[in-house]
Amino acid sequence: MALFVAGLAASFLLQATLALNPEDPNVCSHWESYAVTVQESYAHPFDQIYYTRCTDILNWFKCTRHRISYKTAYRRGLRTMYRRRSQCCPGYYENGDFCIRCDSDHWGPHCSNRCQCQNGALCNPITGACVCAAGFRGWRCEELCAPGTHGKGCQLPCQCRHGASCDPRTGECLCAPGYTGVYCEELCPPGSHGAHCELRCPCQNGGTCHHITGECACPPGWTGAVCAQPCPPGTFGQNCSQDCPCHHGGQCDHVTGQCHCTAGYMGDRCQEECPFGTFGFQCSQRCDCHNRGQCSPSTGACECEPGYKGPRCQERLCPEGLHGPGCLLPCPCDPENTISCHPVTGACTCQPGWSGHHCNESCPAGYYGDGCQLPCTCQNGADCHSVTGSCTCAPGFMGEVCAVPCAAGTYGPNCSSVCSCNNGGTCSPVDGSCTCREGWQGVDCTLPCPSGTWGLNCNESCACAHGAACSPSDGSCTCTPGWLGDTCELPCPDGTFGLNCSERCDCSHADGCDPVTGHCCCLAGWTGNPSALPLPRS
Ligand SMILES: *[C@@H]1O[C@H](CO)[C@@H](O)[C@H](O)[C@H]1NC(C)=O
Ligand SMILES: *[C@@H]1O[C@H](CO)[C@@H](O)[C@H](O)[C@H]1NC(C)=O
Ligand SMILES: *[C@@H]1O[C@H](CO)[C@@H](O)[C@H](O)[C@H]1NC(C)=O
Ligand SMILES: *[C@@H]1O[C@H](CO)[C@@H](O)[C@H](O)[C@H]1NC(C)=O
Ligand SMILES: *[C@@H]1O[C@H](CO)[C@@H](O)[C@H](O)[C@H]1NC(C)=O
Repeated sequence: MALFVAGLAASFLLQATLALNPEDPNVCSHWESYAVTVQESYAHPFDQIYYTRCTDILNWFKCTRHRISYKTAYRRGLRTMYRRRSQCCPGYYENGDFCIRCDSDHWGPHCSNRCQCQNGALCNPITGACVCAAGFRGWRCEELCAPGTHGKGCQLPCQCRHGASCDPRTGECLCAPGYTGVYCEELCPPGSHGAHCELRCPCQNGGTCHHITGECACPPGWTGAVCAQPCPPGTFGQNCSQDCPCHHGGQCDHVTGQCHCTAGYMGDRCQEECPFGTFGFQCSQRCDCHNRGQCSPSTGACECEPGYKGPRCQERLCPEGLHGPGCLLPCPCDPENTISCHPVTGACTCQPGWSGHHCNESCPAGYYGDGCQLPCTCQNGADCHSVTGSCTCAPGFMGEVCAVPCAAGTYGPNCSSVCSCNNGGTCSPVDGSCTCREGWQGVDCTLPCPSGTWGLNCNESCACAHGAACSPSDGSCTCTPGWLGDTCELPCPDGTFGLNCSERCDCSHADGCDPVTGHCCCLAGWTGNPSALPLPRS
């Protein structure tokens, strides 16, 4: 079969040779020798024998001689001839009239050499040298690019990060487990990890998983491989590494460490017993133990004083009115004001507002309430109720603790009375009594000072002379006509008269004028007013 194909190709080649177009750019030519058979003449040598005379006696003095002679002969010969021969250039093969480039698997003259290149490399159709595809190197392109390089001729540096390998052909980054992104520059997104970030994160309760290993980092308060377990009792926080601070059996929040106290305790570390009189969870319940019974802060159970019994210690061991060993002694307490008489000691527990061994003394001033222990808050002389401590204000004050003086115009208890002082008199907030302005007197300041007096309480005497009026408020004098001065003690100066001496006398032939009326004091012989006329002659 192969022989047959080869034979066919050979004969085909022979035919095509004749038809190649010398103008074809892929046709090459060379000189070729060839032999032709020719008939050629030549000088054919042959041995010619002849005889000469000689001294050879034995042969009768005749010697045989040889000589080379030539005659024309003919023979077949091969002659080498030369001719230009066309054929496809190396890297091309003949196909009909054309030279076609070698296919990628062949090279050389007639494309008869098989390519050695691997991994998709092209081979130079003329030389057979390999032109490697991106990602390969070596003379047969048999080797991948060195790590860290890629591309044609392995010339490009890989850009992948975090230990990623890079595809030698494309440069594509093949991320190491735990990384993602075009350049593997990112950690796996939350909730995933591992190769291609394809593994699901198993961490619960907000734990975050390591981007490579998937190992869980638990949030405060959680532990275990997948953070599913709360911190063991007595610990809390990050890695459950903190010790709970709660005392008295308080439980601590496994996340924050905040204490949840058991009944009977409070405080941020449950370090405090419930305040007196309270018990239970968060100390939110009120104790109900009587007669000084002690109340358990956790259960509220009452532990009674000697002499009492019952769940709330409200039962006396002695009958009412008796105390002491054998309950033989009478109680000394005033029954009106007493809550109880101690059955053992006979000590009296007084009603609020009462004190003393016998509960027959009301609270001392300034105290009130249970055992008269509470200080009164009432001010300004107010009374304090011995039981409730409420204030009864002194006159002139008001308010819860009697700190507010009465407003102007009011007075008395509760400031409930209205003042009745007139003419600018002020009123005492206590009893409403009036303090009159200067010039006024009387209970409600309605009476002006009697004439001749002035000032506060009309207690000053007027000093105005010559019938002048005196101001009741300041004692100043209003002079009558003809007088002048602070106390009107000066007569008008000559030539003036009237109120304030402000008028001028208008007299001729006169010795001045009357300071009050201005009537001229005519000289003898003159009359008239003004005295301009001579007296009529008599
Ligand atoms: C918790 O444990 C991890 C791993 O042991 C450690 O790296 C980290 O520092 C710890 N954190 C704390 C607050 O102890
Ligand atoms: C209180 O009672 C006792 C005994 O009965 C008596 O001695 C005392 O004077 C009384 N005190 C007052 C303030 O009444
Ligand atoms: C004062 O006011 C109180 C309460 O409003 C009242 O009970 C009391 O009787 C008043 N006192 C007088 C003297 O008006
Ligand atoms: C009023 O006057 C009298 C006597 O002059 C004097 O004793 C008294 O203190 C005065 N009163 C006032 C309030 O000034
Ligand atoms: C008198 O004099 C006083 C003070 O100078 C003045 O206030 C008053 O008006 C005068 N009276 C008359 C009538 O001029």
